Amino acid sequence: MVEVGTSLLDVEESNVIQNIYDLEVAGTDYFHIDVMDGKFVENDTIEKMRKYTEYLKQISTIPIDVHLMVEDVEPHISDYLALEVSSITFHLEACKNEKEVLKYISYIKDNNTKVGVSINPNTDVEKLFGYLPYIHKVLLMTVEPGKGGQKFIPESIDKIKMLNRIIYENNFDVDIVIDGGINDETAVDAKKAGINVLVAGNYIIKSGDFKEAISKLK
Ligand code: DX5
Ligand code: ZN
Repeated sequence: MVEVGTSLLDVEESNVIQNIYDLEVAGTDYFHIDVMDGKFVENDTIEKMRKYTEYLKQISTIPIDVHLMVEDVEPHISDYLALEVSSITFHLEACKNEKEVLKYISYIKDNNTKVGVSINPNTDVEKLFGYLPYIHKVLLMTVEPGKGGQKFIPESIDKIKMLNRIIYENNFDVDIVIDGGINDETAVDAKKAGINVLVAGNYIIKSGDFKEAISKLK
């Protein structure tokens, strides 16, 4: 069975505490925190996501997975290491070169936190292969990063298959996470192609029944 992470990006601030409780009861495996800096993508969610993470730390024990959609990666890694989240994922496109990618991977791991690397829909999956021995997860964006509620890009399925094959052949211990446009239909082919974790925002948050939405995804 796959695991489900719920993105809190589109949760209204007036509902956030209640939604966190309800999502926990409904069986979400992770809370997914989308940090956007207004540079790597247009939206800026820095303050909102810090606040939501602080709420989570106070009222929930479910692991918090941070997805950094930011240009200047290092200060944001430091901020979330201080909040003692369970994993931090940054974008390959935000890094100048391989050395920088490896530097962030070590920085996160040296602080006993799981590390993920993410790529945008237009980035070749091969670019990740060299990092697979060192990371815990790959987060494949299945929409353009920047906002919730978009349509799943079907070409993502071939990327998942290719990545899954490389991970299997080399016996790497790396989760494949997909993020963007996930619902009970788009999840079907993705699961067949070999993902381990689905991140969903609007499908769960706007469902009216978190428990049913999460079990359908699983
Ligand atoms: C998009 C974010 C996603 C997104 C998920 O940039 O990384 O986590 O908000 O939301 P849905 O499931 O609505 O596409
Ligand atoms: Zn995300």
